[in-house]
Amino acid sequence: MKMLKQSLLAFLLLAFSVAKADEGMWLPQLLAQLNEKQMKSMGMKISAADIYNINKGSLKDAIVSFGGFCTGEVISSKGLVLTNHHCGFDAIQNHSTIQNNYIRDGFWARNNAEEIPNPGLFVTFIIRIDDVTKQVLNGVTRNMDEKERQSAIDKNIAELRKNVKKENYQDSFIRAFFDGNQYFLFVTETYKDVRLVGAPPSSVGNFGKDTDNWMWPRHTGDFSMFRIYAGKDNKPAEYSVDNVPYVPKRSLSISLDGVAENDFTMVFGFPGRTTQYLHSAAVEQIMKVNDPVKIAIRDKALAVIDGFMRKDEQIKIQYAAKYAGIANSWKKWQGEVLGLTSTNALGKKQAYEAEFQKRVNANPQWKEAYGNLLLDLVKTYNEFEKYSLARDFFNETMSRIEAFAIVNQLNSLRNAKEKNGEKGFTNALPGVKERLAEIYKEYSPVVDKQLFIALIDKFVKDQPQEFVAPYLLNKLKENNNDVSKLADELYNNVDLFQNGNKVLQQLSSNPEVVMAANDMNHANQLIAELSTYYNNTVSKNITGLQSRINQLNRTYMQAQMEVMKEKKFYPDANSTLRVTYGNVKGYNPRDAVQYDYYTYLDGVMDKYKPGDYEFDLPEKLRSLYKNKDYGQYGSNGKMPVCFIARNHTTGGNSGSPALDAYGNLVGLNFDRVWEGTMSDINYDPSICRNIMVDIRYVLFIVDKYAGAGHLVKEMNLVHPKKKK
Ligand code: ARG
Ligand code: GLU
Repeated sequence: MKMLKQSLLAFLLLAFSVAKADEGMWLPQLLAQLNEKQMKSMGMKISAADIYNINKGSLKDAIVSFGGFCTGEVISSKGLVLTNHHCGFDAIQNHSTIQNNYIRDGFWARNNAEEIPNPGLFVTFIIRIDDVTKQVLNGVTRNMDEKERQSAIDKNIAELRKNVKKENYQDSFIRAFFDGNQYFLFVTETYKDVRLVGAPPSSVGNFGKDTDNWMWPRHTGDFSMFRIYAGKDNKPAEYSVDNVPYVPKRSLSISLDGVAENDFTMVFGFPGRTTQYLHSAAVEQIMKVNDPVKIAIRDKALAVIDGFMRKDEQIKIQYAAKYAGIANSWKKWQGEVLGLTSTNALGKKQAYEAEFQKRVNANPQWKEAYGNLLLDLVKTYNEFEKYSLARDFFNETMSRIEAFAIVNQLNSLRNAKEKNGEKGFTNALPGVKERLAEIYKEYSPVVDKQLFIALIDKFVKDQPQEFVAPYLLNKLKENNNDVSKLADELYNNVDLFQNGNKVLQQLSSNPEVVMAANDMNHANQLIAELSTYYNNTVSKNITGLQSRINQLNRTYMQAQMEVMKEKKFYPDANSTLRVTYGNVKGYNPRDAVQYDYYTYLDGVMDKYKPGDYEFDLPEKLRSLYKNKDYGQYGSNGKMPVCFIARNHTTGGNSGSPALDAYGNLVGLNFDRVWEGTMSDINYDPSICRNIMVDIRYVLFIVDKYAGAGHLVKEMNLVHPKKKK
């Protein structure tokens, strides 16, 4: 047994000493130093300086953060931007009406004049990235507590940003990496006039919807197109009819040659958040406590909403986006737990920690600094557990019940008045009206009441009683412990929830009436009591524990980099620009099952279900298929649709370009495979794959399906494989 353990350990050590070829979200400015050699050995034909260069144009100049939540890339010299359908969905939805239903039918501007502005939408380019660790940590010492430390850092950051070398139309921000061991400064350019150019119908752009979401094999054409507009000087400008299409420093060339198994690919974009270096105790908590409870609460919420959507057309439209959002994480967490289990993430982490501890113990200096670190982490996470469970219960319950969101909007109006008098009120009113209108537009009091009943019932029954506010228990007692009676009291005949139009009208004509009604409202009192109780019993404890955890994690990160020298470290995702790379590959998710790496239009047709909510298809696409009318986009008589590769991606990488060995655009990232969604916590090259739509399918839909070939003419199409 002991020998077996030792040889297992030796094997595991070998496994993480040889840099796993596909893991990592790397900083573009450090590729030359850390990754270039390996990238070339995996097939890359360009240099790190072609990817990131501050002295001349490089690929990074074609990549944008799309609205701060997705990625986009510039694909023409006239500022055309490609991103996912689900990233552009808000814009598509906002411009859709019963007459012009762009969600259902798609939309294609025939010329610049038809491109539609989107107030609030922006894209951000990264101009330069500088290491400012020394300056940010100047004067920061080990014996400062977290608060002192943060205020010293904030002061340094403010000072640094005052003196950043940049143009007046540029911005800057500084972000922490490696849990606060390093800091980088980003100089950025943000364009705020971004117009909708085109989107396929949802039956293409979101084909397979929630059933296929997070799954391979996949058949979705998840893309939409926008255009960046600039002032006449090509600089960022607020929206104006006089703005002109932006001329980019760089736009991506597009390869029509596709990819084959083992081809090199890289994905360039803005991954949101990962936690790769957590202690096994934290991972265990996610697997056994947090993910399961969030899944269970969402089970309830989804069942309620789905029940109504299936029988009511109006509710189906109103709740479609909400449902998709709730279901997206719900499904991902389930895959995450499965993947962490099937890859023995805990066992691997524990073996790694044992080796770490062994090395620390063998070195007096390390022992002094890090000897108790792991024990302290375990102890703190154990203390944290019940509060993090209570936090999930509270957040997942309260944020689903929109009656609370409505009263909170009106409370913010009350607060503005109390703070800044009539002027504060007048200033806050338009924003509150706008947000309330948005809530009401996608709100049904009938659905919300049932959500309240289902979720409050679970909230009261399924968590430790110490976290359930006595006020709520009393309210229930008054109602014979029947949540639906309490719901009657809160919802029935209450204009705030039953009659949004009236509320919005009154807010314009006689706001005091609405304010008074809100002050007296029972739901308002309930959420106030629940929040206060939560703050006192949960939040307060979390704040202290979290700051202790942050400090321990920062030390653990530093210690790992010092002690586990053979390991190549990359910083966790934090919505900053990263490069990830890996080869095109199928995978073997479980016994006897082998997945290929490509899907074709044939597979789309196999899934076709006439009239179905998720799998219906437009007639035109079916006829193009019947006639094999694929133009220059087909390959060997077939139309490629999606492919997978070993690129380490996460949420925020939606819309990221997949580039070939030469830096040409070959695909558009939009998802990961079910078995590998745990890559946010413990990447495993055996089953972690990102899913991309083949760029040829995108162009086929634009050109052949939508007849928007004028857009393809803007692009630079290349044949890197045919050249040789
Ligand atoms: N799973 C992808 C992501 O995390 C796609 C989500 C949009 N699609 C959907 N069917 N909900 O964003
Ligand atoms: N669909 C995700 C997004 O919106 C990307 C998929 C993932 O999480 O990897 O960013």
